[in-house]
Amino acid sequence: MKYLITGGAGFIGSHLAERLLEKGDEVYVIDNFSTGSLDNIQHLLSESKFHLTVGTILNERTLEPLVQACDRIFHLAAAVGVRLIIERPVDTIETNILGTEIVLRLANKYKKKALITSTSEVYGKGNHVPFKEEDDRTYGPTVKSRWSYATSKAVDEFLALAYFHEKKLPVVIARLFNTIGPRQTGSYGMVVPSFVQQALLGHPITVYGNGKQTRSFTYVDDVVSAIRQLMEHPRAVGEVFNVGNSEEISINDLAKLVRKIVGGDSEIVHISYDEAFEKGFEDMQRRVPNITKIKELIGFKPTVDLEESIKRIVEYYRR
Ligand SMILES: NC(=O)c1ccc[n+]([C@@H]2O[C@H](COP(=O)([O-])OP(=O)(O)OC[C@H]3O[C@@H](n4cnc5c(N)ncnc54)[C@H](O)[C@@H]3O)[C@@H](O)[C@H]2O)c1
Repeated sequence: MKYLITGGAGFIGSHLAERLLEKGDEVYVIDNFSTGSLDNIQHLLSESKFHLTVGTILNERTLEPLVQACDRIFHLAAAVGVRLIIERPVDTIETNILGTEIVLRLANKYKKKALITSTSEVYGKGNHVPFKEEDDRTYGPTVKSRWSYATSKAVDEFLALAYFHEKKLPVVIARLFNTIGPRQTGSYGMVVPSFVQQALLGHPITVYGNGKQTRSFTYVDDVVSAIRQLMEHPRAVGEVFNVGNSEEISINDLAKLVRKIVGGDSEIVHISYDEAFEKGFEDMQRRVPNITKIKELIGFKPTVDLEESIKRIVEYYRR
């Protein structure tokens, strides 16, 4: 198979590219290195079945030959990370809405199956966990720019499903919950790499808010395996799937766990959301997936627990 991965030089995309190449597939990557990097894929450049295009998905002329060349498309390119979204709201909306529109339009032109990576953020600030795929969504007001990410990704889902229903384009939507692993950067507000780097440097570990908010984390290999299987499963077409881990941990406990694994004595400090992001910033209290649907279809079960995931991330940063 020939796969196009948009955002293939990013955290998840680079792991996906590795797995596909290992299986003997041909991989085309397009990335503009906005949050991804050459470092993430440097080791793949010498592979004859790996092809890199440095450019933006917003440029239709760059993207079109890649869509034509491939059999299937993993669409991962997006503006990602709370800090980036707040600092560059125009980019976020354009990349996530216009970019996905271009990907889907070209996929439809050449009738190429596409998997769209959406996010648990689409559930918004509802507290009815665990979240099921068909749950209602509750968002904050438009004056709070952080909601543009959730909204833009929800529009991507609407658009993908519209292409499926109206144009019969085979699409699959994977709603990823917090994914962690080596190569994820802490630069845009991602909590685990930030905590690990702070602990390794012996700096204070900075928890936003009171730290009682909870999250659930999935190791990147489990996510990659899930999206590969969803892409191949005929009954996944036209459907939305949560991809995540239902184990929940508070951010305070996460900070303690990271400190224990790193072995340092970093102080754990709390700073307000206003200080960390923007005035009046709204966070979700809990974000836990119901994974019954994906379990029933492909037998999905996370295999790497949080402690082991953090150990691997610590090892990565130490190296
Ligand atoms: N990591 C998570 O916890 C998580 C959770 C939910 C959803 N997701 C989704 O998974 C996908 C991958 O996320 P990630 O964590 O690997 O983040 P990432 O930032 O590492 O990957 C995104 C990649 O897209 C590239 N990109 C951005 N704009 C582009 C453009 N206009 N043209 C070409 N490339 C562009 C970036 O350079 C980067 O390499 C995203 O769609 C994201 O919304 C991730």
